[in-house]
Amino acid sequence: MEDRANIHTLLEDADAFARSRLSEKRYGHTLRVARTAEELARAHGLDEDRARLAALLHDAARETGPEEFLGIAEEWEIPVGESERESPKLLHGPVAAELAERELGIKDEEVLEAIRTHTTGRPGMGPLALVLYVADKIEPARDYPSVGRLRELARKDLHGAAAEALRRAIAHNEERGRDTHPASLKTLDWLEADHTAQPRIEQK
Ligand SMILES: [Fe+2]
Ligand SMILES: [Fe+2]
Repeated sequence: MEDRANIHTLLEDADAFARSRLSEKRYGHTLRVARTAEELARAHGLDEDRARLAALLHDAARETGPEEFLGIAEEWEIPVGESERESPKLLHGPVAAELAERELGIKDEEVLEAIRTHTTGRPGMGPLALVLYVADKIEPARDYPSVGRLRELARKDLHGAAAEALRRAIAHNEERGRDTHPASLKTLDWLEADHTAQPRIEQK
């Protein structure tokens, strides 16, 4: 884990880094996710600064050109599957995690994991990664029918909220005839196997 003095410098650097790489709109989303991630971390007894750090950097590669992702992935030896070949922007999480490490010197593996897995999830993902995954889906500007109940659930049950968010993402893809990333399906299986007793929210 980063030491205290260091993390405050890192938070400032991460904020400036995100601001320099993102449109105003996406930087606004980033700040809302950061605030939401801090709140969720507090609610679940996790480190708020590390949650904020991951959130500030999660979309830092989101405005990389679609044609650039595969080249970067090859150069930095980031694994690329069929889904990433079809939709290279899926790589914005892994690429942002690499940037966090290379450009800002972040070594905190849980922070890097949270950034890396925020788009698809990963079976066995840790609490900080769950916080970021859920915060991204419920930040205050998100507006869809089940978001209010998901916000409520997230305060009490991170795993349940992540599972619910994944079910919603899968349903959303199905409606549009799109495949869901295999990591998301496996993550939902993992969450449901470990947390079968958690309440579900009705899909609308
Ligand atoms: Fe993202
Ligand atoms: Fe995001």
